[in-house]
Amino acid sequence: MTETHAVIILFGGSGDLARRKLYPALFGLYKRGILHDHFAVIGTARRPWTDEHYRDIICGALEDDSDYTLALARAFASHFYYQSHDVTDAAHYVTLKDLAQKLDDQYEAAGNRLFYMAMAPNFFSTIAEHIKSEALLAPNGFNRLVIEKPFGHDFASAKALNDSITATFHEEQIYRIDHYLGKEMTQALLALRFANPMFEAIWNKDYIQDMQITLAEAVGVETRAGYYETAGALRDMVQNHVMQLLGFLTMAKPAAMTPEAIHEVKREAFEQLHLYTEEEAAANFVRAQYGAATIAGTNIKAYRDEDGVAPDSLTETFVAGKILTDQPALAGVPIYVRTGKRLTRKSTQITVTFKPVGTGLFGEDAKASALTIYIEPTEGFTLQINGKTIGQAQSLMPEELHYQHDAQVTARAPEAYERLIENALEGDQTNFTNWHELAQTWRFVDVIESAWRKDNTMLTYTPGSMGPREASQLLAQTGSSWYWQP
Ligand code: BG6
Repeated sequence: MTETHAVIILFGGSGDLARRKLYPALFGLYKRGILHDHFAVIGTARRPWTDEHYRDIICGALEDDSDYTLALARAFASHFYYQSHDVTDAAHYVTLKDLAQKLDDQYEAAGNRLFYMAMAPNFFSTIAEHIKSEALLAPNGFNRLVIEKPFGHDFASAKALNDSITATFHEEQIYRIDHYLGKEMTQALLALRFANPMFEAIWNKDYIQDMQITLAEAVGVETRAGYYETAGALRDMVQNHVMQLLGFLTMAKPAAMTPEAIHEVKREAFEQLHLYTEEEAAANFVRAQYGAATIAGTNIKAYRDEDGVAPDSLTETFVAGKILTDQPALAGVPIYVRTGKRLTRKSTQITVTFKPVGTGLFGEDAKASALTIYIEPTEGFTLQINGKTIGQAQSLMPEELHYQHDAQVTARAPEAYERLIENALEGDQTNFTNWHELAQTWRFVDVIESAWRKDNTMLTYTPGSMGPREASQLLAQTGSSWYWQP
């Protein structure tokens, strides 16, 4: 394993994301030797913390790691430095620059800089501008920017943000995070589609009846109402995570497994996303909010009664819709998507249903075959096929072939953030989004948002269910139904 040399400057060092995801991910890289002697992390945020306090926070964030010992955590945390920082104050960037240079010398970090934006998105542009104006880019090593979601609020704000970061960083220096791209089974979609001729050969409108993507969560809005009220399920989950999965499901075969080749076919796939008119968007998308319920003796608040949520909020906590692509190979194949909070249980899964063609011999008995890909929390596949009932009769019986990754192996595999930070450190942009994809997905989402703004109807659904009845009616229009019905 080659050790990476770098000074990592983290904007948002005191935040929740840093504690829950980034410090454990960096610790994973440390344990694997990818970060070891020649790295330093400068955490910045407004609070006036000392290095000692910051290092205590880092150690605290690692306690759940199966290899945690205080000695190991402290050795790792000794590479962390804290700099209180007002992102709008130019003088603070000069201090930051000097500290980065000092740590670069001390740790022999080869002049490499990784800037990581993990704070409130309204400051992303300001930070990028100051990195340029106060000359924080290192002259000799690499300079890379990792930027968290949300990348904008709509197409216009995403474009403004993109313009401001590209004024400081070149496209090949920018790593836009969508953590779904770091998940094991998202990455496995390419092998599934392009290393198995039986799927590759039938991945088209002649054989595929529909595709379904479900990102279900059991949790409610938790403590994030401030952000969530400005987003809703469509912006929070569909514009990014759902769309990235859709990109992998609909893109053509890349010419090679290189970042450039993969991004090229993904770009084509997003360019051929079928953009709706507002009327079509209203007819093909359903939104809803969770209501109140008592589940196993626990009272669940309705979304509108959650702390920080407006009593007349029109923010959706559930969305379901039908998406189409204009790609000739898959034109007309409905891609049904749904995601929401307070659904039956946490599960991310995809089902591709194949048309029951060529089964004239068996008539109505033949069911559609279906391939399900489990992304999380279980990782694996199920292929439903038509088998024969045991005995003399030549009648059909659906049978399921299952495969599931070993949970112990999965538990030891790097988590999404660890993979993505490793990719950014090694300069591999494969699992990051690029501007063309974001632009097109925002265009798609903007039409739905503007259709919804003209209609104040908000459906409700019972916590613990899989959303409102209308989400099933969407599929009934084409004679289909949700494959996963817990
Ligand atoms: C985030 C959303 O991007 O993804 C959250 O902002 C959501 O609302 C989360 O809970 C889900 O991620 P995962 O990896 O738990 O499926």
